Amino acid sequence: MAMAVGMGLNLLLLLAMVATNILSLYHLSSTRSVATAATSSSAPADVPDHLLRQLHTIRATISHLSRLRSSSSSSAAAAAPPPELLIYARIAPIASACSDHPDLLHRYMNYTPFAACPGDDARALAEALILRGCHPLPRRRCFSPTAPKPLTSLPSDPFAPLPDAAVLWPSSAPCRSFSCLSASLGFDPKVESTRFLSARSVLDLPLTQLLNLARSAGAAPIRLGLDVGGGTGTLAAQLRRLANATLLTITLDLGAPYSEAAAIRGLVPLHAPLQQRFPVQDGVLDLVRTGHAVNRWIPVPALEFLLYDADRVLRAGGLLWVDHFFCRAGDLEAVYAPIIARFGYRRIKWAVANKTDGGGLKNGEVYLTALLQKPLPSPISSAAGVKSSSN
Ligand SMILES: *[C@@H]1O[C@H](CO)[C@@H](O)[C@H](O)[C@H]1NC(C)=O
Ligand SMILES: *[C@@H]1O[C@H](CO)[C@@H](O)[C@H](O)[C@H]1NC(C)=O
Repeated sequence: MAMAVGMGLNLLLLLAMVATNILSLYHLSSTRSVATAATSSSAPADVPDHLLRQLHTIRATISHLSRLRSSSSSSAAAAAPPPELLIYARIAPIASACSDHPDLLHRYMNYTPFAACPGDDARALAEALILRGCHPLPRRRCFSPTAPKPLTSLPSDPFAPLPDAAVLWPSSAPCRSFSCLSASLGFDPKVESTRFLSARSVLDLPLTQLLNLARSAGAAPIRLGLDVGGGTGTLAAQLRRLANATLLTITLDLGAPYSEAAAIRGLVPLHAPLQQRFPVQDGVLDLVRTGHAVNRWIPVPALEFLLYDADRVLRAGGLLWVDHFFCRAGDLEAVYAPIIARFGYRRIKWAVANKTDGGGLKNGEVYLTALLQKPLPSPISSAAGVKSSSN
């Protein structure tokens, strides 16, 4: 399939090339015929050499491609893409995400243009589509509903109480106020104000310790980061308070207004699923943390893509913090540790402990918390693995 896509692209490029060249040839020949008519010269119609050469190349490429096409079935074995690529192509064919869910898409697109968008259902449908990797959002022309009462002020402190009126609560939601939601979900400012500050187990990484480790690893300062599955954005709030850092929080609503709560707190919520490319350029972030939402329920190939994308956005020397990742005990060494090892990051922290809640005990699960550093490009890379940077 990758080959077919590549060939399609080649054809497209070729067509574009042919089109521009034919246009220039056409332009040239038409100006020339005007010129010849005007001067009534009888000189032979000579096309410039470079255009002839280009045409020749185009013809050769076309015949090469059509040969490839007609013989692709017989030469498939010889030119087979690596099996790794095929495995990953199967998890979701590229760009198929929307067409695989015509029913949802149809319901989502059922609206009146230039009027108010349908209410709750459309918001839930948008998230359902996003979760399946389909982003149809720009293709609607209706006005999104907002919270009924405009607020005169929003808290500037991310640990202040959250105003209920700032949220458009779905009429079907069991909870229609923040106090109704369980405190463990991240909506209680008192609980949140102490999170990430102390260690209750070896799996916790208090932020003062994180900042110290970053300094001694040559990864400081931590100014920009991404919190994947960051709930209401408490890590972003704490790192802003402690280090003036700016974190983007990837969060979905999934039954409670996580995005809205983060926004009320003045933190940036990114509404994106885990299988999407992070909307950030390569090599620009100091820190990527994956939270509890990143765990063994994510298919392994998708998880591997996610980690590669974290690697992509991290700068050299940046930190990947795998926080409370859980999986079956046997899979950690068999499956996940090798995937992580492949990145060649330095292990600053690697803590494993039994997951002792009901599900954890039943499934024999363990937690992993790891702090890993993306390699610094080192001019004096030695076989002994000597740390070369000392800044
Ligand atoms: C954060 O920025 C403010 C204003 O620039 C400054 O006063 C404060 O010391 C900074 N805090 C930290 C932890 O860097
Ligand atoms: C973790 O769980 C395994 C089996 O479920 C058990 O054998 C082991 O002793 C536990 N480790 C600790 C530190 O409790």
